[in-house]
Amino acid sequence: MGEECKDLVDPKVVKLDELISHYKSQKGALIPVLQQAQEIYGYLPEHVLKHISLEMEIPIAKVYGVVTFYAQFRLTPMGRNVISICLGTACHVRGGAKILDTIENELKIKDGETTEDGRYTLEIVNCIGACGLAPVISVNGEVHGRLTSEQIQGILAKYE
Ligand code: FES
Repeated sequence: MGEECKDLVDPKVVKLDELISHYKSQKGALIPVLQQAQEIYGYLPEHVLKHISLEMEIPIAKVYGVVTFYAQFRLTPMGRNVISICLGTACHVRGGAKILDTIENELKIKDGETTEDGRYTLEIVNCIGACGLAPVISVNGEVHGRLTSEQIQGILAKYE
């Protein structure tokens, strides 16, 4: 075993390479490869995109084009706590946009972004099935309903 073999021990890289070799010869394989790479890493780091581009012989500009076009792909890691704010009809009608404003101002992030300290990620979602409690947010899947802007700070503080 030479020195250069050390890198190959990373199980994520091994998985990624298995994935690429599985899909390599198939047409339209870029999206499933990116989806599964995101499952492995939790997001799509730059080095992973470069690796996929090289190994699949797809120009890096095209890879970035796909990643930035589809909302499902993330270029940054998720925060420790994921805040999903509902802007479905019921929540929208009952002031969801104001709640969103409050959270954005409080955390200084927008939809799809993560705070610098990695504590929170914010995402806008459509109806989480708790319309009777509108407006709602969920944090790590825990639903908080009948919200007012005044409650936001206290709720967020609970999530380290
Ligand atoms: S619209 Fe928000 S929970 Fe249904």
